[in-house]
Amino acid sequence: MEVVIQGDADAVANLAADAIERLVSSRPNAVLGLATGSSPLGVYDELVRRHRSGTISFSRVTAFLLDEYIGLPAGHAATYREFIERHFAGLVDIDPTNVHVPDGTAVDVEAACSQYEQKIRAAGGVDLQLLGIGADGHLGFNEPTSSLASRTRVKTLTEQTRTDNARFFDDVDDVPHHVVTQGIGTILEARHLVLIAIGAGKAESIARAVEGPVTSMCPGSAIQLHPHATVLVDEAAAARLTLADYYRATYAGKPAWQTI
Ligand code: F6R
Repeated sequence: MEVVIQGDADAVANLAADAIERLVSSRPNAVLGLATGSSPLGVYDELVRRHRSGTISFSRVTAFLLDEYIGLPAGHAATYREFIERHFAGLVDIDPTNVHVPDGTAVDVEAACSQYEQKIRAAGGVDLQLLGIGADGHLGFNEPTSSLASRTRVKTLTEQTRTDNARFFDDVDDVPHHVVTQGIGTILEARHLVLIAIGAGKAESIARAVEGPVTSMCPGSAIQLHPHATVLVDEAAAARLTLADYYRATYAGKPAWQTI
C-alpha cells in the first residue's frame, strides 16, 4: 500500500486525476470504478477541467458506481445516479449507456445485484476504483461487520452514516435505511484502488484502515489485502497516522518514473 500525504484537497485531487488521465491515455476503453460523496468531488472537477481543455476524453470509458440508495424514486436529486450525472458523467463525453449504477429501484433486488456483478465481469473488471471512506470505516456502503468477501447486495446503513449523509437531503429522516453496494470482495477485484480522504473527520478511520488490523469492524482495512492500493490524504486526514513521516519520506524519494 502506498500512502501519499498532500498539503490540501486540491493536491490530492490532482494526483488522483493524474492517475486516471494516465490510465485513460494508455487504455482509452478503461473501466473506472466511481465513488460519490464529498471526497472525490475535487477529482471530478479536475477531470472535467482537463476534458474541457482537450487533455482527456472519456468517449470509450465504462464506469461502474459503487453504490445506490434503495427507496428513492428515479431522478431524485440525492440518488447516486443523479450525483454522478451532475458532477462528472453529464459534464464529459462519456457515453451515458456506459455509466452503470446499482439499481435501487429493482423489484427483484437480488437478481439486479447479480446482474451488476455480471456486468462488471463482462466489462473485463474495474481498472481503477476511486474510493472514499466513512467516519465509521465503511467502504462503499459496506458498514462495519460486512464480510470481507462480500459481493454486491443490500445493506442497512448505520445511524452514523445516515446522519453523515443527511447533508444531501432536506431532513435526516429522508435518508434511506437501505442501499445496494458493491461488496468488499467485489471492490478488491479492481486492479488499482485509489482511496481519498480529506479533513480531520477522516483521521480516525484512515488510521484504522491503513495501520490497524484487517477487520470487518473497519471495512476500509480490507485495502491492506490489495496488491495495488493508493491512499491519498490531506494533512488533516493524515493526522492520526503513526508512520506519517515514513510515508512522506517514501513519497519524496520516489523515482520520477514511478507513478502511483
Ligand atoms: C460513496 C461511498 C461511500 C463514501 C463515504 C465517504 O459512493 O461509497 O463509501 O465514499 O461515505 O463519503 P464522503 O466522501 O462524503 O465523506
